[in-house]
Amino acid sequence: MMKKEYRFVISKAQKIEGMLTDKEACLLYLLAKEGSGKGAIVEIGSYKGKSTVCLALGTKKASREKVYAVDWHKGWKNAVGGGTLPDFKRNIRKFGVYRYVIPMVMKSEEAARTWTKKKMPIRLLWIDGSHDYKDVRKDFLLWSQYLVEGGVIAFHDTFWNGPYKVINEYILKSGKFSKISAVDYTVFAIKSKPNNMEKLKNIKTLFLRSILKYPMRAEHLQPRFINKFIKDVFLNDLPEKIK
Ligand SMILES: C[S@@+](CC[C@H](N)C(=O)[O-])C[C@H]1O[C@@H](n2cnc3c(N)ncnc32)[C@H](O)[C@@H]1O
Repeated sequence: MMKKEYRFVISKAQKIEGMLTDKEACLLYLLAKEGSGKGAIVEIGSYKGKSTVCLALGTKKASREKVYAVDWHKGWKNAVGGGTLPDFKRNIRKFGVYRYVIPMVMKSEEAARTWTKKKMPIRLLWIDGSHDYKDVRKDFLLWSQYLVEGGVIAFHDTFWNGPYKVINEYILKSGKFSKISAVDYTVFAIKSKPNNMEKLKNIKTLFLRSILKYPMRAEHLQPRFINKFIKDVFLNDLPEKIK
């Protein structure tokens, strides 16, 4: 039986247009509420506020740090998905979290420049902006420098080429992240040195990712047995508390 608080989060998230699955909505809530480290929560890519609301509900529940929601609200490079600011503002009000959200309506790189002056530590970094390799890499490099030791980084849509490659290069190979896990299309990890067992597991994961020719266009386009295999090999189970 799912915990009442997760049913609550799902019921709110389902009312907001966006790309998160129910499990991902609960994961973000859980990471914001209970994730390790001290510092701000930073979201790159808010769209209409689905993930923002989940993060903010979590941190609000625990009376923790605010969510800095970075989005220029002009969509992707090909101009799809722009004009979302009014819906975003409406949703953070409607779901009672506006006091926990600080919108940064600008490009990620510009927001990172202002952050450089603040030099505020980040304890949870959620990357879900442009999914082009160069952009995801840039978001990672600009923002992860502020992630505290023990903080959590999470990427969305990790079957896309951009996040997929960045996770290979900067998370699995780096020797700086441990407990690399995934829930649906979200991969998340803790900034702390992996132990030897984890290093071996990361090498195995990289190898399997290379022969399986992951990333996929979409998971549902793959034969079922591949999906099951991917779930078994790449994706750890949900954290206990979400089950
Ligand atoms: C995939 S959507 C985010 C979805 C959202 N996290 C959700 O849960 O529904 C990506 C968002 O990133 C924003 N975006 C894309 N490139 C950006 C950039 N360079 N700087 C700031 N925002 C950007 C777009 O405007 C868009 O709203």
